[in-house]
Amino acid sequence: MLEDIKEILITEEEIKNKLRELGEKITRDYKDKDNVLVVGVLKGAVLFIADLIRHIQLPVQLDFMAVSSYGASTKSSGVVRILKDLDEEVEGKHILIVEDIIDSGLTLSYLYSMLKSRKPASIKICTLLDKPSRRKVDIEVDYLGFEIPDLFVVGYGLDYNEKYRNLPFIGILKPEVVKPADNPD
Ligand code: PRP
Ligand code: MN
Ligand code: MG
Repeated sequence: MLEDIKEILITEEEIKNKLRELGEKITRDYKDKDNVLVVGVLKGAVLFIADLIRHIQLPVQLDFMAVSSYGASTKSSGVVRILKDLDEEVEGKHILIVEDIIDSGLTLSYLYSMLKSRKPASIKICTLLDKPSRRKVDIEVDYLGFEIPDLFVVGYGLDYNEKYRNLPFIGILKPEVVKPADNPD
């Protein structure tokens, strides 16, 4: 698997340090709240959320949503299908949405409005990576790990054709590993 990687963009160590920093900040900001629900967006956010919540020193609830855009070609339409909804009640709770990456912003923009309609006490967004150059809709990020340039990244939850999520760092694939149709070069 490592032989498919051209370059490591963010190391395991850099991720670890960032998790501690984000966890401490979130702990400070939510210390007076006793009804915090941390929501992970499957599947990309799984590694990030699992590591991040260990640095949140509060008795938060944990839940997951799975979403899919309606076919690759209509991703830009912003229509998102809910594959798995939350198990937990949202009303009156402080919701912290956790994502691995914000690209166009369409997934989060949809999730945000959907959760907002369920009358939470507040909603904030935490993302490990942000690619602002690709944004199609405005998203206000409350907790950010790293801003990255417009490169196709894998690892630490992020996939290429569902693979490479298990890499412990964020990296870039060698061009020969990427199918010609997916290759920007
Ligand atoms: C990726 C990523 C974000 C979303 C960001 O998920 O994990 O959830 O796309 O893109 P956007 O800002 O343009 O909406 P994907 O749909 O690939 O599903 P996955 O998490 O299961 O890989
Ligand atoms: Mn995702
Ligand atoms: Mg994906």
